[in-house]
Amino acid sequence: MISKTLVVNGMTKTLLVNPEDSLADVLRGQLLLTSVKVGCGTGQCGACNVIIDGKLVRTCTLKMKRVQDNAAVITLEGIGTPEHLHPLQMAWMYHGGAQCGFCTPGF
Ligand code: FES
Repeated sequence: MISKTLVVNGMTKTLLVNPEDSLADVLRGQLLLTSVKVGCGTGQCGACNVIIDGKLVRTCTLKMKRVQDNAAVITLEGIGTPEHLHPLQMAWMYHGGAQCGFCTPGF
């Protein structure tokens, strides 16, 4: 086990993690951020996408040992609020882009 400090949706979290676990598993299992979906689990579909330090990252293939300490992670839970949706969320609603919804958080 290793200690990792992440800034997740603006909140600092210090976690004890298995270095071989994926960031997707940690976000879902330890932080209960279930918008992060694991579809293919091989880095192909993008359902597990989050933003790390301003860059889009597929979390299903990113091992915790490779995640930098103090990385700023943004998941869907950190974008907009039910009362004040992000412009991208408004556009998805307007254009009906959700489809079945499983991979929508990643997009
Ligand atoms: S679950 Fe498909 S890219 Fe990560």
